[in-house]
Formats: sequence, C-alpha cells, structure tokens
Amino acid sequence: MRRDQGKRMRLPAIRLSVALTLLGGTGAAVAQDIDNGRRLSARWCSECHAIEPAGGNGGRTISFAAIADRPDITSDMIASFLRMPHATMPNPPLSRKDTQDIAAYIMQMKK
Ligand code: HEC
Repeated sequence: MRRDQGKRMRLPAIRLSVALTLLGGTGAAVAQDIDNGRRLSARWCSECHAIEPAGGNGGRTISFAAIADRPDITSDMIASFLRMPHATMPNPPLSRKDTQDIAAYIMQMKK
C-alpha cells in the first residue's frame, strides 16, 4: 500500500523532467563555450556561411553576423534550428551542448 503511493507520487516528477528536456531546458544549461562554438562552426558551417564577425562575402548564403543582427533571433532559436537538417547540409553530429555553443558564438556577434 505505502509502496504504491510512493510510486504514484514520483511519476509526475519524472514526466516533468522529460518535458523540460524536450523543451530545451535552458534553465539548467551549462555555461556556453564560445570558443568551442567557433571551432564547430569552422568545421561544419563555413562551407556555406561566412562565420567570422566581419561577415565578408565568402559564404554562399547569409553570414553568421547577419543572422545575429536579426532583431527577432535568439540563441534558443538557433540551437533548436540546428537540431534539424537545413539546406543540403548533412545532419552534423552535434550534441545539445554543441548547438548551444554555436548559438552563443553566433549571438555574440550581435551589434
Ligand atoms: C550545405 C550548406 C550549409 C551548411 C553546411 C550550413 N548551412 Fe546554415 N544555411 C544554409 C542555407 C542555404 C540557409 C538559408 C536557407 C535555409 O534556411 O535553409 C541557411 C540558413 C541558416 C540559418 C538561418 C535560418 C533562418 O532562420 O533563416 C542558420 C541559423 C544557420 N543556417 C546556421 C548554420 C550553422 C550553425 C551551421 C553549421 C552547424 C550551418 N548553418 C551549416 C546552408 C548551409
């Protein structure tokens, strides 16, 4: 009897933590590592995007600096965007932390 009650009480807590994970759980996020974001960008993004703050016209599409400058963009949006494939980009093996680091790297270019 007591055991059953305990089980029933723990369940919602488990469901909540799953929900938070699915939502992105930025509250508990580790500190973003901008250097790691820059390294990953050079490796996975520079083929198509100009990834340096100066922008330049090396890229085939919108530069990271231009993305950062959009008035409506947030690092959460970039991080979630990176969990889906885009353009002809093969889905790179990026962890959640990696996508957040890249997002932080892009967002620090905001003027
Ligand atoms: C194969 C080329 C290619 C690669 C590699 C690539 N992108 Fe893109 N990216 C594009 C193109 C083209 C667009 C614009 C069209 C679109 O959204 O699909 C774009 C758009 C974006 C956008 C803006 C989405 C919006 O709201 O319009 C972001 C942010 C972005 N890329 C981030 C990245 C990051 C970060 C990487 C590296 C992990 C990356 N991209 C790698 C081609 C690429």
